[in-house]
Amino acid sequence: MQPMVRSWSLQLQLRPANEIITWSSYVPPSYCCASTLKRTNQYITTFDAHKLTIFGENFYCKPREFASHFTYGKTYTNGVARHCGVRLPIDVKQPEGACIMNKEVAFITGSAQGIGEAIARRLVKDGFAVAIADLNFELATKVADSINDDGGKAAAFKVDVSDRGGFQQAIEDASDSLGDLNVLINNAGIAPTTPIDTITAEMFDKVYHVNVASCIWGMQAATALFKGKGHGGKIINAASQAGVVGNANLMLYSSTKFAIRGLTQVAAKDLAKDGITANAYAPGIVKTPMMMDIAHQVAVNAGKDDEWGMSTFSKDITLGRLSEASDVANAVAFLAGHNSDYITGQTLIVDGGMQFQ
Ligand SMILES: NC(=O)c1ccc[n+]([C@@H]2O[C@H](COP(=O)([O-])OP(=O)(O)OC[C@H]3O[C@@H](n4cnc5c(N)ncnc54)[C@H](O)[C@@H]3O)[C@@H](O)[C@H]2O)c1
Repeated sequence: MQPMVRSWSLQLQLRPANEIITWSSYVPPSYCCASTLKRTNQYITTFDAHKLTIFGENFYCKPREFASHFTYGKTYTNGVARHCGVRLPIDVKQPEGACIMNKEVAFITGSAQGIGEAIARRLVKDGFAVAIADLNFELATKVADSINDDGGKAAAFKVDVSDRGGFQQAIEDASDSLGDLNVLINNAGIAPTTPIDTITAEMFDKVYHVNVASCIWGMQAATALFKGKGHGGKIINAASQAGVVGNANLMLYSSTKFAIRGLTQVAAKDLAKDGITANAYAPGIVKTPMMMDIAHQVAVNAGKDDEWGMSTFSKDITLGRLSEASDVANAVAFLAGHNSDYITGQTLIVDGGMQFQ
């Protein structure tokens, strides 16, 4: 197989002091910039073409960045070092398809239940460490605990995504605690039923702040972090099939999800130069507490029962069934992983064939 040059990463977990970790087996030794890593303290102190001495809980290692960013013998914290100017003779190559990356970090909002929880659990299976970020800290903690009990790596964070400063702080805290940030999933959202004549200014502000402004706050914080760490990243935003076609009774919700598709396209164009992709996913009718609430409200407004409310949403699904949260998580896992590296600015519709575009 023809070797190809590509960026790849390796993240080390906390190991006993002075343990030597060898990882040259993944990469042909002649191409390998640092075959042995040794943890001894809180900082990187020395580096040469064969040995790197590092300190700290998590060290994010991108060999191609070593080449251009690290100076021999200097001290760096947490692998963040840029513009050092010395180029070492490193040429990282690996066969196409080979992957030595593990434990990238994903921050997922609204992941204490529903689609967000399913995404978090799926990404853990894919090797991510995950930040379970939610307004409901108690539930977020339960999800994080259960992931950790099952051998994954997760931490819970209380966040109101409509609060710019709080959201930014939570992303920084998660990066400190989990070692890095590679993927932000702006999943949290609210979906009150809003027939036109019922909409108030307060409702407008609330829904637009939680569903739209939050994505901008999250993107600002995540892109600053990606850049500070000297690597790219992925932004993934929750849209909806209701953001592809206007849905009755959902004036505010539907329009916020149209906005998500638009801001995702703008982000893709603005951030590509920094190695950051931005995509969205548009679920259909997913069996989560949110959908049950919407169906209930639609039914109440029409004077019908919940089953009727749900049927108004489910009758046009080509695949003939409602969506499980895992159906959406599978698609988001694709957007979060490296198989989607050449995709940006897109909205992936995951609705069993409700909308065709
Ligand atoms: N369920 C569906 O059928 C469906 C369809 C299309 C799109 N979506 C979208 O998918 C995303 C997840 O939906 P879901 O069905 O899992 O919702 P859900 O209501 O079941 O879960 C949403 C989670 O977000 C949290 N949250 C709400 N407001 C928050 C805030 N201000 N800050 C932080 N967290 C907050 C909630 O506590 C909850 O844990 C939403 O953006 C939603 O619009 C859902």
